Amino acid sequence: MENPLQSLGYKLLTSSLEAGSADQDNATKLSRRGFLLLAATLSSCAAANPLRPQASLGPVQPNAAPVKTPSNTAYRTPQIQGPVPRNPDMALRSDFSKSSGISFSRVMVSGNYIAMTFDDGPQPQNTPRLLDMLRARNIKATFYVIGKSVDLYPQVLRRTVAEGHEIGNHSNTHRLLSKLSDDEIRADLRLCESAIERAAGIKPPTMRPPYGGLLQRQREMVHAEFGYPIILWSVDPLDWKRPGASVVSSRILAGASAGGIVLSHDLHSQTVDAMPATLDTLLSRGYKFVTVSQLLAMKIDAPAAPATVPLPANS
Ligand code: NI
Repeated sequence: MENPLQSLGYKLLTSSLEAGSADQDNATKLSRRGFLLLAATLSSCAAANPLRPQASLGPVQPNAAPVKTPSNTAYRTPQIQGPVPRNPDMALRSDFSKSSGISFSRVMVSGNYIAMTFDDGPQPQNTPRLLDMLRARNIKATFYVIGKSVDLYPQVLRRTVAEGHEIGNHSNTHRLLSKLSDDEIRADLRLCESAIERAAGIKPPTMRPPYGGLLQRQREMVHAEFGYPIILWSVDPLDWKRPGASVVSSRILAGASAGGIVLSHDLHSQTVDAMPATLDTLLSRGYKFVTVSQLLAMKIDAPAAPATVPLPANS
C-alpha cells in the first residue's frame, strides 16, 4: 500500500540532503516517523531537496502553455480607497563597501527599509507567479538561486533579472557547505556563479549559504575570494514546513522591522500565496522594499551611546 505521506508529495523528501545523489525511484521512502525526524533535522532555508522537480513539473519547454497554479482564495485585495499602495521607485546605489562586514542578518539603516529574499528557485510556476505580484507593487526583491535550478530554468532567471530583481548565490546543489572542504566550497559556489552568468550575464553580489551553514573561517575565505558578503536573515517564517499561507504571512508581519532581511522560499506555492497579503500589509505600514545590496549600501554605523549629561548641582 502506498504510504499516505507519499501521496501528499512528501516522497520528494529523501534521507539525503545531497542533491541529485539519489534517483527518485530509488529514493529512500520515509515513514511518518522518518519524515518527522527528517523535518526536525532540517534548519530553516531548508527544502529537503529543492533540486528535484516536483512530480508534475518538468523543465518548461519554450512553447509550453502556461501552467495554472492554485491561487490563494483566502486573500482578497482590499477595496482601493485613495492611492494604491505601491513601493516608491528606488534610485539607490547598490554598490557597497566590501570591507564593511562579512556576515549580515540585518542592517542598521535610517528609514523604514526592508529586504525580501526568496530562496531555492528558480521554480517554473511559483517564481513567475511571485514576479507578477512584485511587479504589480513595484517591489524589488532578492532571489538566492541554486545553480542546478538555474540550469534547468534559465528563462525564469532571465525574467527575474530583466524585471530589476537581484540575484544571489545559494550554491550549486544546496549542500551543507560547512561539511565541505574549502576546495569543494569554492567549486560549488563557482558552478552557481557560472550558471547565473550563463543564463543572465550577471554576477551575483552576495551569497547565502544553504541552511545558513557556513563556519566563520569559511565565511572569511568566501568573502576574501569571491567578494561576497554572507547574507543570513532576521525573519524566518519557517515557510518550508508549509504551515499555510496565513501563518507564513503573520510570521513575516510579526518579525518585520526596519533594516530587516526576510527569508522565504519561492520554491513553495504556499509562500507565494502568502505574498499579496504580506506585501500589501507591509506597504500599508510604510515599509519601502529594497534589494539586499541596496540595503547594505544604506548601512549606517550604530549611533553613539548618548552622552551622560551631568545633573545641575541644585537638583
Ligand atoms: Ni535554501
